[in-house]
Amino acid sequence: MADGGMAIGKPISRIDGSKKVTGQALYAAEYDAPGLLHAAVVSSRIAKGKIIAIDAIEALALPGVIAVLTHENRPHVAAFRYAYKDTVGPPGGPFKPLHDGKIRFADQPVAVVIGENYEAARDGAALVRITYEEEAFETDLDVAKAEPFKPKLPRIGVKPAPKSRGDFDAAFAAAAIKISAAYETAAQHHNAMELFATTVVWEGEDKITVYDKTQGSQNVQLYLKQALGFKLKNVRVVNAFVGGAFGSGLRPAHSAFLATLAAKHLKRSVRLVLTRAQMFSITYRADTRQEIALACDADGRLLAVRHACVAATSKNEDQQETVVNWAGLAYACENVAFDYQLARVDTPTPGDMRAPGAAVGVHVLECAMDELAYAAGIDPLELRLRNWVEHDQNDNLPLTSKAQKACYAQAAQRFGWSERSFGPRTMRDGQDLIGWGMAGGVWDAFVAPVPTRARVTWRRDGRLEVAAAASDIGTGTYTILAQIAAEAFGVPVEQVEVWLGDSTLPFNPVEGGSWMAASTGAAVARACDKLKVALVKAARKQFKLRGRKGALSVSRDAVIGEALPSRAVSLNEIVTAAGQDITATGTTLPDLAGQRKHASYVHSAVFAEVRVDEDLGVIRVKRIVSAIAAGRILNPKTAGSQIIGGVVMGIGQALHEEAQTDHRFGKVMNHSFQDYHIPANADVGAIEVIFVQEHDPDVSPLGVKGVGEIGLVGVTAAIANAVFHATGKRIRSTPITIDKLI
Ligand code: MOS
Repeated sequence: MADGGMAIGKPISRIDGSKKVTGQALYAAEYDAPGLLHAAVVSSRIAKGKIIAIDAIEALALPGVIAVLTHENRPHVAAFRYAYKDTVGPPGGPFKPLHDGKIRFADQPVAVVIGENYEAARDGAALVRITYEEEAFETDLDVAKAEPFKPKLPRIGVKPAPKSRGDFDAAFAAAAIKISAAYETAAQHHNAMELFATTVVWEGEDKITVYDKTQGSQNVQLYLKQALGFKLKNVRVVNAFVGGAFGSGLRPAHSAFLATLAAKHLKRSVRLVLTRAQMFSITYRADTRQEIALACDADGRLLAVRHACVAATSKNEDQQETVVNWAGLAYACENVAFDYQLARVDTPTPGDMRAPGAAVGVHVLECAMDELAYAAGIDPLELRLRNWVEHDQNDNLPLTSKAQKACYAQAAQRFGWSERSFGPRTMRDGQDLIGWGMAGGVWDAFVAPVPTRARVTWRRDGRLEVAAAASDIGTGTYTILAQIAAEAFGVPVEQVEVWLGDSTLPFNPVEGGSWMAASTGAAVARACDKLKVALVKAARKQFKLRGRKGALSVSRDAVIGEALPSRAVSLNEIVTAAGQDITATGTTLPDLAGQRKHASYVHSAVFAEVRVDEDLGVIRVKRIVSAIAAGRILNPKTAGSQIIGGVVMGIGQALHEEAQTDHRFGKVMNHSFQDYHIPANADVGAIEVIFVQEHDPDVSPLGVKGVGEIGLVGVTAAIANAVFHATGKRIRSTPITIDKLI
């Protein structure tokens, strides 16, 4: 291992793994409470208009149905839209569930039925009769994009499109080798294994414990407090285990609001689980329409780059992603033009999905680089190397590290890229056309933009406890935090106990942007340093250990003296003598001064082989090699699983995933796993992950860059480029389905 640590850098298995596979890890819908009631949501049949009448008589007559809540009879909720603001939402007015009779999107929740059991609630929901008055709506981005607009207010955490530089028009006009093309990327819907679910336990006296599927317990806590009028201290939100989220749980889902509304109304405990179909009514990755133009000289050096995007957003909020910026920083170029605009459709507000912005923007850039390579007659990998840059030209800042050249070299070698023949349709295996494609990937290396905290405790039972309100959405956060604490004290990982996913624990922002390992990880390391100081202090006091200031230190599980290492007092003796566990808290702050001096990104190189049946057009991903440069890797096993998961999502984006909206109804029609395709086992070929370790003390206190998002970036382009190499067809619309290919 590059860092030679005792625990950090070791490929250890998840410390929560056995809890998960034995059912001891409880998810939001698995908590029970005395007298627990069950809720089901009634979804709007129409896409836009208003409710004229609600007839709940039949539903209420059903045995077991207790109440039907609608905008007409719900308890008081906040009217002011800012009460519904969460910490990560975009500019605009958030959707207010059951607030009024207006319908803003298909499948909007319009009523909640509460029953003694799940069946009563579900059947009751089917019996609520609603009369609507329909209005004209628009859900088609291809129509809405005729009225694009630039977002007025930026979104926190998203970089606005940079200022254009140089003179794109003149440089492009003068260039001999150039390409320009239009791309479209489909809307994708979140389908994590765990459905949106909330169990609200009524503790009495307007006090609740909310088990919720979310990426941020304290974000949901604040939202419920404001929107539903609870005292902050009376709302505890727990998300100790999360069955996948990928961005869907960054903002509070309307299910959390509705379950809590029902509990507040009835003063009872309530559980609400959305159906798989209702998962399509929360948020989605915005569909985009993009244009890209690239020009180079005969040596392949970029002379001009232009990247433009129109992305879908809702009527009420300006969702934004970082889509076009990458075209200005991935390669060296002086003449670059950017344009990022939105267009409004009558849908829920789109939201983040793994590598938001880069997943679609870098895809288009990397497909265009491939097209330019063919226009210039240069190997696609070679073209990228000829445009190498180690400076963020958008912000005119040096990079803290960029080991992407090593990614290209190692992945290319592993893949066997040198054996590739340049021309399309030149490699085949019987009936199958073989295609080899590649792409580069880039994503931000963030540290959380707000202070992030962790607490560590040396307990009297001899365990080292780590606690933070961070969420582990399945990424391995429990494990890496245990490794960091174990490393700090030189104790086995098994001695560390980690508590996460609870709003009562030290403050953490939502788990997103791939910032948690760097931010919460550093907070744990700092807390460990402070805990050592506290233990030494206690040792001086309890055991009269002498020595100058600094002469005593913690070594493994004892305090020792500089001169007399034999005079050691174990940490267990110290806490026993102190009569209490000893605790310290650490905080990671965003490095604002550093951010003015340098920029940080995580990089990748992805190589893909596809087989395309020449007659049927069936595309199979045979193998993918992904090399990742993400600073110091805390755990190659859990990090490797992140990359594999990202690659699988990339296969989905390239070949399978798309929301199919029938614009006559304004409704997503394929809202089931039968019709909304995600890659199944047979769709996923061999995946190989290579980590190129970087020593980068400037990116974050532990030298860590996140790996949650980068695994996806570039995968879709590598596959699309492989499809071109196999077939000679450049499909500029994802997913690349058979009908587009033949
Ligand atoms: Mo990630 S899309 O920031 O959860």
